[in-house]
Amino acid sequence: MEPGQGRDSAHIVSFVLYSSVLALVKCSLAVQYVVGNEAGWTLPSFGHVNYTTWASNYTFHAGDSLLFNYRSDLHNVLVVEAADYNSCAPSNPIQTYSDGKTVIELPNPGQHNYVCGIPGHCDQGQKLSIMVNAAEGKEPLVPAPASIVPNPPRTPSKAETYKRMSSFTSTATKILGSVMAGCIIFMT
Ligand SMILES: *[C@@H]1O[C@H](CO)[C@@H](O)[C@H](O)[C@H]1NC(C)=O
Ligand SMILES: *[C@@H]1O[C@H](CO)[C@@H](O)[C@H](O)[C@H]1NC(C)=O
Repeated sequence: MEPGQGRDSAHIVSFVLYSSVLALVKCSLAVQYVVGNEAGWTLPSFGHVNYTTWASNYTFHAGDSLLFNYRSDLHNVLVVEAADYNSCAPSNPIQTYSDGKTVIELPNPGQHNYVCGIPGHCDQGQKLSIMVNAAEGKEPLVPAPASIVPNPPRTPSKAETYKRMSSFTSTATKILGSVMAGCIIFMT
């Protein structure tokens, strides 16, 4: 083995591993966010939680979901338009939940608003507005595979090395390709 070969191979291996992990992480993990974390969905003064601050800690993507944990005898979850969110006087909720453990899927990008419909609760800050971004998997995942092809050999003595590298690279590209294909199947 020539001195440079091991290092180049190691680079390719780590690139492929890194790319595969990146592809998997980016496209297969729909995240479920627990609103308010341990505090759950409650009055901010009671749970020591601020839902604006809570939301600002995360980047939501289409495909993720929210889990609202709350006492169903004390709270509920209304999905509302921005106007109702701002006024805290929900006149026309899009959806009402009162099961105490509400999972809301977020299939679409855009602003999504939630309030508690129990009188006074929204005014006290039991309201959540989040921006949902496009699904991550729809963004370009990794650089073009061409970028991992090693430089052409400069001397005949390296020709053999290059041949082996090429076959390794092509295998690596196939592995990466199938990971991404699986990813695309998962996404669609
Ligand atoms: C936001 O993240 C910071 C840093 O990780 C953490 O200290 C804080 O408690 C989080 N706030 C909320 C509301 O989740
Ligand atoms: C939460 O924090 C935001 C921004 O810091 C603030 O405007 C809002 O009044 C807070 N809400 C509550 C219920 O304390």
